[in-house]
Order: sequence, then structure tokens, then C-alpha cells
Amino acid sequence: MSTTLDVSRRAAAQAQPNIALIKYWGKRDLRLNLPVVGSLSITLDTLWTRTEVRFDDALSADTMTLNGKVDAKQLKRTSACLDLLRARAGVTTRAEVISENNFPTGAGLASSASGFAAMVMAGDAALGLRLTPAEQSVLARRCSGSAARSIFGGYVEWAHGQQADGEDSVATPLLEAAAWPLSVAVAITSTAEKAIGSTEGMNRTADTSPYQQAWIDSQDADLAEARAAIAARDFERLADISEHSCLKMHALALAAKPGLLYWNAATVAAMHCVRGLRAKGLPVFFTIDAGPQLKAVCLPSAAAAVAAALREVPGVLNVVETGLGGPARLIPVADLAAA
Ligand code: DP6
Repeated sequence: MSTTLDVSRRAAAQAQPNIALIKYWGKRDLRLNLPVVGSLSITLDTLWTRTEVRFDDALSADTMTLNGKVDAKQLKRTSACLDLLRARAGVTTRAEVISENNFPTGAGLASSASGFAAMVMAGDAALGLRLTPAEQSVLARRCSGSAARSIFGGYVEWAHGQQADGEDSVATPLLEAAAWPLSVAVAITSTAEKAIGSTEGMNRTADTSPYQQAWIDSQDADLAEARAAIAARDFERLADISEHSCLKMHALALAAKPGLLYWNAATVAAMHCVRGLRAKGLPVFFTIDAGPQLKAVCLPSAAAAVAAALREVPGVLNVVETGLGGPARLIPVADLAAA
């Protein structure tokens, strides 16, 4: 079989970030990027990554541009992801990757989730692999765990899986966004790139946190509770279990050596703000990932009041309001140039 392509092949895709309500933290296999726990997320809608992948035999190396700038830092992970696609297609052809985010990169807004989901979908189309969404999810997982979930829209669960080869550690959609539309207000408290990325943070936690085993042992019950809350459209129940999972993940990471402290003063002030609103009867809860942004999840009827209250919190730079969105999808290549 030829290991080159006869013509340049390109395609573009859009994926939205997702926010975990029941968190992924920790790996059971570093090479296959398999998680120690299952996780459950919601996919957003107005925040997106758009990525074009162009395979071309004339290229001597992969290239990556993010928001118009050459991104040398991301190139290694990009090439590793492209290698998985190339291996599937049986080619060695290098690729040019052009990516745009409409939100800050690397600041706890899951840009790697939408980024790798879009890249896998575009790369699959460019190479004519015709992968199923489940196969795309497995490949995206190997590039960045949370990317497995951004292949799908709405409420999504990513299974821990049992197989050593990880082929059953795949995300599946639980419920469409339209079946229970929630609103999300993202309180941005810093646009700086985070100091310790998720992979490094997870590995340090696994090596040094005394709470690692308790985290693993208690996850399945949290997942079952969140699934039941979603099936019943029970907001209070989902709020309780989601805040619990968020705080438990941060407690686990805080107890690493040295401790991982992803919050700044404004993050903590925003947590108190959300707790205060909920005490007054507003249907809202918070969740926070490996960065200083707070995501307030609420019923749409509370969205305007939640966003207004977060804007008043000292240190909150901006509040981005969004709903729940659909799956990753192919887009015309021209859409990227127009972005
Ligand atoms: C805190 O998916 O970025 O957002 O697999 O190492 O790329 P890698 O990690 P990543 O971790 C996300 C961690 C989290 C929780 C979550 O999204 O479930």
C-alpha cells in the first residue's frame, strides 16, 4: 500500500468545549490515556474551536497555527494526534492544522477538549476514514481525555472501561441538550495560561495525594447519582452531586505534594456568590476545572440574574453566557477562513 496521498486532502470541523459535572482526574494508562474513573459532562454551544486539517505530501513536517499564530507548544500533541489518524489510514503524509478558538486557550475552559475533538473529526474526513462517532471518541480520548466527550452534544458520559486496550473507554450521549436545556455562565477571572496542565496535575496527584484511592472508590456512586438526577430532570439533585464532585476533585489535588491550587481570590468569591444565590432560592450551582474560571450552571430562568451577580464579583473580568450545545460537526473549509 502507498504511504502517501495522491492529492492534498482537507476538511474542517467545529467542536464545543464540555464541562464535567462528575470530574475526570487521574489516569490508569498513560500511553493509551485511560482514566482511573468515569466522568459525566455537558457540552456547551456558543464557545467553539474550529479546526482545518490539510494533509499534503509536499509538507516535510506537521504545522499548527492557533488563532493566527504558530503554536510550537501544541505541536507535539498535535502531531501525536495526527499520528493516530495516519496510522489508521496507513499513510505518513504530514499535515497543516489551522485552528481558531473563540475563548481563552489553556485557562480551564477545556480548549483541549474542543480542540482535539475538532481535529479528530476534521482529520477523519480529510483522510476518508469514515470513523463512527464512538471511534472518533476513542481517538480523541487518546489525544486528550476530555476530548472524548466533546464528540457528542448535550449530556455525555465517558466510561472508565474494562479492556486493557481501552477500546471500551469511550463517551456516549445520555440525553440531548434540547431534552433538558440548562444555561451556563462562565466567570472568567484570568486569561493567563494555567501554570500546571491537567496531565501533569493528575500525575502529581496520583503519585502524592493521600486521597487518591478514596476518589477512585467513590466515583461510581457519584456517576449513578448524576445519571439519576439527569433522567429525572431534578436540578437540585444534580446541583448537589456536581458541586460535591468538583470540591472533591479540588480537595484531592490540593492534597498533592506540592498542592495544586487552581483557584484565585475571584474564583473563591464567585463560589460564595453562587452559594449565596442558591441559598436565596435560585436554581444554580458551580463547577471549576483545572483553572481559575468558575462555571455557574443554572436553569434558563435564572441565567440573567446569575450572570449579573457574577459580573459584580470583584476580580471577575468577564462573564460568558451560553447554553448546552450539539455534537462536533464538519463545517465548510471556508467557514474557518471567515472566522
Ligand atoms: C479538570 O482532558 O485536559 O477538566 O487527558 O491529560 O488531556 P488530559 O486531561 P484533560 O483533563 C480535564 C480535567 C478536568 C476534569 C474533566 O474535564 O473531567
